[in-house]
Parts: sequence; C-alpha cells; structure tokens
Amino acid sequence: MYSRFQSALKFIKYYNKASNSRGHGIHSPFVFQFITKILNDKTKYADYKKMESLRKTLLSDPTILSIKDLGAGSAANNTKERSISSIASHSVKPGKFGQLLFRMVKQYQPQTILELGTSLGVTTSYLSLANPTANVISLEGSDAIAGQAKKNFDSLNLKNIRLVVGDFNDTLEPLLATLPSIDFAFIDGNHRKEPTIKYFTSILSHSHSSSVLILDDIHWSAEMEEAWEYCRKHTEVRLSIDLFFMGALFFRNEILEKQHFSIRF
Ligand SMILES: C[S@@+](CC[C@H](N)C(=O)[O-])C[C@H]1O[C@@H](n2cnc3c(N)ncnc32)[C@H](O)[C@@H]1O
Repeated sequence: MYSRFQSALKFIKYYNKASNSRGHGIHSPFVFQFITKILNDKTKYADYKKMESLRKTLLSDPTILSIKDLGAGSAANNTKERSISSIASHSVKPGKFGQLLFRMVKQYQPQTILELGTSLGVTTSYLSLANPTANVISLEGSDAIAGQAKKNFDSLNLKNIRLVVGDFNDTLEPLLATLPSIDFAFIDGNHRKEPTIKYFTSILSHSHSSSVLILDDIHWSAEMEEAWEYCRKHTEVRLSIDLFFMGALFFRNEILEKQHFSIRF
C-alpha cells in the first residue's frame, strides 16, 4: 500500500494529466455520454438519502465483529476484532463512488451484477437500488461481516441481492459456472496483483460486448497499479477510464480502436 505522501503525489499527477470533467475535447461519443449522463448527473436521487442514513448509523455502531482477514484490504484491516464503525469508515466505499456505481447501473441497466467484497453491503445496496429488477450477487469471505450486510439488506427491504459467503478462491468459479453471463462487475476485495488479475480473467470469460467491469483502488499500491495496467491493456478491453479511485473497463465491439482516458472525478 502506498503511503499518504505517495498517494497524494499520484493523485496530483493523475489530476494534472486527466481530462476535465465537462467532456471538452473528448471525441468518443460513448465516453462523452459517460461523462455527461453519468459522471456529471447531479440529480439528488431519493435512494442516496436512504443509503447515507444507513452509513451514518453504521459509522456510530460500536458492535465488535470477529473477522478473518482474507485479503489485502483497507488501511486498518489487519485486526481480528473490528467494530462496525471502524469497518464503515475504513472499508466501505464513500458515498460519491457508491452513487457513481448507482448511476452507471441506472444508465446501462445490467441484469446480472456481481460484486467481489460485500463488506457491510453499502455499495451492494446502491447497486441493488439502481435496478431492482437486476440480480445482484455479492461475495464476502467473512461470516460476521456478511451477517451484518444481510441485516442491512433486510432493513432496506432489498429483495434482489444474493450473498455468497466464502473465499473468492472457492466461490467465484462455481458461481460463474451457474450464470449465463456477467453484465456488470465491481471487484473490490483482496487488493493484490495476482488475485485481481485472476478475478478479472474469470469474469472476462463470462462477459460480453456490453459488460462493464469496475476495478477498485487502482492506484492504492504498486501491485494494484500493475494489475490495472494488465487489465486495461488486455486485447478484449476496448475502452478504459481511469477515475483514480476506481477504473472502468468496457468491451464494446463498436469501439474499433482501443481507447484509454483519465478523467477528473
Ligand atoms: C474493501 S471491502 C469491500 C467494500 C464494499 N465493496 C463497499 O464498497 O462497501 C473488501 C471486502 O472483501 C472481503 N475479502 C477480501 N479478500 C477476500 C477473499 N479472498 N475472499 C472473500 N472475501 C474477501 C473482505 O472481508 C472485505 O469485507
């Protein structure tokens, strides 16, 4: 994991290099639409309020969970006993990004959505609320964390989420074998190079031209940057967008020439 100083330098470099967030000078119609309809959609959807109120509750919940740490996770992730409030503040994606994924799902209307790394289920719930007719499947390795996520789904009355508990190494491939294809995937667990590439490769073999794959924390460590480089340069990826805290990969057949953008967000 990079130090705060290294991360700050990386962010400054990205910010200086990235295209502005208004879409000026972007000639790709698909990317222009991504910027104007998704990145810059400032609508205050009612579901945001619901989710951020749940986050607030979790951030002040002192309940201690006994967890097994399966991956290179967040900054304060090595202890065996963690409070819900600590997990909510260190491991859960901030609202800005949950809401971005919500808008992507609203725009692209994927039917089968896969998340690797449920944590407390906050981002999972954003994905679920964005398309209540979709099947959202989320994978989590820790029983105790998954138990809390399940409580959160119940409290929000979300009916379209399937939670699969176990190490991704044991759950991902058998799950993929039962699904027709993956339309949207968010890889947000076990931030190491080889596992990330392995998850990408597995999901890629169940993807199609309209699938969208989001990789989290692509500049979190040298290993994650290497994994991101590998994924975005893969021949089947037609378009990659670097948003610094996450990266988006598209496989669209109509994009004939491989494209890569860094966009401020
Ligand atoms: C960063 S958190 C996920 C945050 C969540 N996507 C969100 O935005 O709210 C990563 C989660 O992945 C789980 N995890 C990490 N490595 C794993 C593995 N190898 N198998 C299963 N779960 C794993 C951790 O237990 C942790 O809860």
